[in-house]
Amino acid sequence: MLRSFALLKYKLSEEAELVLLEERHTSELYAVTSSNPAYLRRWLPWLDSTVTPWDTRAFIQRGLRLLADNEGFNCGLWYQSRLAGVVGLHSLSSANRHVSIGYWLAEQAQGKGLMTSACRVMVNHAFKVLALNRVEIRCAVDNVRSCAIPIRLGFKHEGVIRQAEWLYDHFVDHNVYGMLAHE
Ligand SMILES: CC(C)(COP(=O)(O)OP(=O)(O)OC[C@H]1O[C@@H](n2cnc3c(N)ncnc32)[C@H](O)[C@@H]1OP(=O)(O)O)[C@@H](O)C(=O)NCCC(=O)NCCS
Repeated sequence: MLRSFALLKYKLSEEAELVLLEERHTSELYAVTSSNPAYLRRWLPWLDSTVTPWDTRAFIQRGLRLLADNEGFNCGLWYQSRLAGVVGLHSLSSANRHVSIGYWLAEQAQGKGLMTSACRVMVNHAFKVLALNRVEIRCAVDNVRSCAIPIRLGFKHEGVIRQAEWLYDHFVDHNVYGMLAHE
């Protein structure tokens, strides 16, 4: 039973909503990522391999496969009817009842609390709909805006993974933040 299908749409506010990313969103999503690659490239590793709309479609298809396999999914975040970012659940382990959250926002959509409220919805979905026990967020230690999100949501800082991610030409260390169902 794919309980994840319960999430097709989540309203965040009068102006913002999360919607499962489907192939019909390809050109809109490609337009957002290709409009400001330098900004996203600073902290995300996939910009150099996202050069055509087909790459974006492949990303969306991978998200739908995750959903079909009950291993996560990706949602678009629409703000004022425009796609403003992506938030997803990944690395879902049914055996360990654990999942990770990943996210990004278009530069001009920052500073409004959109991703914090999207992550709050994802955390509730993980605990209440998927009945998981642990939600994790990892952020590069110098990615201050990203680290602020789990801190704002009350996650615990659990440690640092050294050289956790290769970003084009250098490694970055990751802060690990976790929240448990009983918290
Ligand atoms: C990480 C990222 C999503 C953070 O974006 P953000 O806009 O700072 O996060 P939020 O949408 O939660 O907004 C929080 C900001 O809105 C403000 N805000 C306004 N209303 C708010 C509300 N109701 N609730 C919470 N914050 C609110 C907060 O004060 C904060 O602004 P500040 O940092 O100037 O104090 C964004 O910087 C990004 O996508 N960066 C590039 C990709 C990336 O780093 N991804 C993460 C990889 S781990």
